[in-house]
Amino acid sequence: MTQLTAPPASTAAVGAHDALGSPWPASARPGPGGDLLVGGVGLAESAERFGTPLYVLDEAEVRARARAYRRALPHADVLYAAKAFLCSAMADWVAEEGLGLDVCSSGELWLAVSAGFPAQRILLHGNAKSPAELRLARRLRVGRIVIDGPAEIARLAALVAADTPQKVLVRVVPGIAAGHHAAVRTGVGGQKFGFPIDGGDAAHAIARVLDQPGLELVGLHCHLGSQITEVGPYLEAVDALVRLMVEVRDRHGVELPELDLGGGHGIRYLPGDEELGLAEFAVRVTDRLAVRCAESDLEVPRLLVEPGRAVAGPAGVAVYRVLSVKHGSDGRCFAAVDGGMSDNPRPALYGSPYSVRLVGRRSEAGAARVDVVGRHCEAGDVLVRDAVLPADLRPGDLLAVPAAGAYQLSMASGYNLVGRPAVAAVRDGRARLLIRRETVEDFRLREVGR
Ligand code: LLP
Repeated sequence: MTQLTAPPASTAAVGAHDALGSPWPASARPGPGGDLLVGGVGLAESAERFGTPLYVLDEAEVRARARAYRRALPHADVLYAAKAFLCSAMADWVAEEGLGLDVCSSGELWLAVSAGFPAQRILLHGNAKSPAELRLARRLRVGRIVIDGPAEIARLAALVAADTPQKVLVRVVPGIAAGHHAAVRTGVGGQKFGFPIDGGDAAHAIARVLDQPGLELVGLHCHLGSQITEVGPYLEAVDALVRLMVEVRDRHGVELPELDLGGGHGIRYLPGDEELGLAEFAVRVTDRLAVRCAESDLEVPRLLVEPGRAVAGPAGVAVYRVLSVKHGSDGRCFAAVDGGMSDNPRPALYGSPYSVRLVGRRSEAGAARVDVVGRHCEAGDVLVRDAVLPADLRPGDLLAVPAAGAYQLSMASGYNLVGRPAVAAVRDGRARLLIRRETVEDFRLREVGR
């Protein structure tokens, strides 16, 4: 195994004390016996109690992040993007912290409303909303629906009586390239979402919506992409959307009261990564909006933002058990864990980088380069390429991956009939199970014929 001079990851700084900028929850602290405490509970202790793979969610981190958004943007509506991760507890936490919810399927919608999330604070997205989904949204009295395609306009209008109008926004494509990966870039043409401003599709859709007595057009929406760490693209989006709002006023005599900039706020995955600065975002976007509106004598619309990853991502830690360590004669080392692309498809899908550390035992060994791989039947099932881990890593060890709270479990699959992991919440030194592990019985129960 290649020996490196870097310290083993197990001794790397974690939590608020890490000057580099840490991907761990702020509560992360060294614990007894090489354990790592999150929310006051040892990750290894939780792994023993609930089994692995285990996703640990730091409730205080979610709440603090939600609160930080509310404080930074006191005059905006902050809607948590449920697609990052949703369960009933998560819905409770964001509701209690005063956020709204962005959902994009009847599943997310139903789960949230069943958990008691106020429907008026929910906004429904989706580029392919089915008639049944729209009916459910109406029946539950969802606050706002974002129109994403032409078929929806008539479909929704047909469901709505003019005396109980539905508040809608129109999703537009401002022609701004931003975000970490082409697969998640949505601010430019050539992708499936929204109505491009260039060429007039957006203006045409807006005119059609304004023609429908049952639809109350309250604003414009755009979503640029994911893992954006700079404020610049959002300022450009403000410019583009305000320009369009001015056109709408001049053409139709309507001043739209809301402007939704979507989500996409980047977080740290590796120590020292850039993240979107919330304070800078809040100040510069709010200022820019005020300036652009003043220039055109437009009433300043209410700002809406839809962060998902930045609320949930840093609150989650994935804990895996090492099942096999393979030292090749070529010097490569593979540590295979009991999860993989079924609980975290992001590395395989986007080549996303992650950091990882040993928890639950101290190691005096030097550092080695290790590929942390999953248990699935694909060579591409690599969770962390070239991780720096103790050279004496062995089966039975526990590995913890930070920044695991968003777009992992929500994109999890049942590949190889490996059930989805359990989810535990930690808070004030106590852990509680939120979602039990999926078992083969769950798969079998869905079978109704042979
Ligand atoms: N609003 C809309 C309309 C969205 O489509 C999204 C994410 C968000 C808000 C929240 O974006 P966030 O703040 O979480 O970045 N699976 C990819 C991310 C796809 C995001 C899709 N839309 C990943 O794992 O990176």
